[in-house]
Amino acid sequence: MTVSQQVFLRDAMRRLNLTRDIFAVRIGVKRRALDTWLLPEGSQEFRAMPEVVNRFVTEIVENEGLLQKYAQSAQSGPLRDRIAADGKHQLLSVDQFTRESVEELFRIADQMQPIARRQKVSRVLEGAVLGNLFFEASTRTRVSFGAAFCRLGGSVCDTTGFTFSSMAKGESIYDTSRVMSGYVDAMVIRHPEKGSVAEFAQATNIPVVNGGDGPGEHPSQALLDLYTILTEFSRLGKLLDGAHIALVGDLKYGRTVHSLIKLLALYRGLKFTLISPRGLEMPQYILEQTGKHGHVIQQTNSLEEGLVGADVIYATRVQKERFSAEDLEGYTPDFQVNKAIIDKCCGPDVIVMHPLPRDSREGANDLSVDLNHDSRLAIFRQTDNGIPVRMAIFAVLLGVESLVQHSLRDVTWSPPSHIGPDDSVFHGMD
Ligand code: NCD
Repeated sequence: MTVSQQVFLRDAMRRLNLTRDIFAVRIGVKRRALDTWLLPEGSQEFRAMPEVVNRFVTEIVENEGLLQKYAQSAQSGPLRDRIAADGKHQLLSVDQFTRESVEELFRIADQMQPIARRQKVSRVLEGAVLGNLFFEASTRTRVSFGAAFCRLGGSVCDTTGFTFSSMAKGESIYDTSRVMSGYVDAMVIRHPEKGSVAEFAQATNIPVVNGGDGPGEHPSQALLDLYTILTEFSRLGKLLDGAHIALVGDLKYGRTVHSLIKLLALYRGLKFTLISPRGLEMPQYILEQTGKHGHVIQQTNSLEEGLVGADVIYATRVQKERFSAEDLEGYTPDFQVNKAIIDKCCGPDVIVMHPLPRDSREGANDLSVDLNHDSRLAIFRQTDNGIPVRMAIFAVLLGVESLVQHSLRDVTWSPPSHIGPDDSVFHGMD
């Protein structure tokens, strides 16, 4: 097998649109056996699946005619051409994706997992330089884009903040973008104004990735969020089609939820509950775009009412830095997502997400820390997924995704088996 067992099985389940439970029944094996085959190769509980299962799964996928569909999409050219915007290899908005192309990107992200988990290294982007231009506050987005590029063998040049950039001297976006294009091979840009990253992209022919344009979009975050939801659902035996997603908080200015709801809308029959304080509701244009796909959309100002029966709770921070007329200091206590309200309103297999950072200051009432030891809290699995997903984005935009598999070498150092102190709660579940 040229791809890892984990990638092969995950991909088969995705293409057949089956949960782990149903997939196990379909191929005639115990769910527990399937779970051990789906673990990363480095895990102590990993088991190699018998060759006969490999042949059987391949046969099923072929019989469904889905392999043919996949072959057709492969013939229709590289993924970067199919997701291109304005004929350029760039990632500005989740609107560039279809369900097929997003799942193709995730198959590439799965292939990146051994690198992200420090089992393998790759140098496919050796010699390439990334310009990470962040004109707005950031920790995880900037560092994870940089780390993803480095883990593919590239190098990174960073610039942070507006005050220390030449834009503070009055330089135009056009000039900055054109100048940077002479120095680097790809750019990730975060900027406080909606639409500004598209303006950067117009002034260059190198790949540009939107790392957040004010209250506009944050496509890479939404991609890693969707990847996390699909991975968690696969483990829990759930399908995304028909699921109940609760988006909570500042839905007016939160760009992560703007991108996420549009991406989720590519799936079928979802129920969205949009829970926000008065005045911070989801913008109308996004509701209209999502509504066109026939999903149920409910809006409420009551957290308790909105969370009932949710499969996913996606909490967000108050984006105070974007406020104009609003005078909210933080959420009121009845708006805080915490263990008590989740136990009261949701089942044992709900997943709790947040793009982070969560505001831990007193009075902010952002996502509570009392869920930190609860395996339903997926926020750090979510941030970990930022690496393979952003690696996949770069590999696709720079056209090297087909080289990754054969470029893998073993790491020379020994990383800890769990990277976070609370990760063992989750050990072996993947
Ligand atoms: C978010 C952002 O910057 O939009 N953070 C992130 O990129 N993960 C969310 C936020 O700042 O609240």
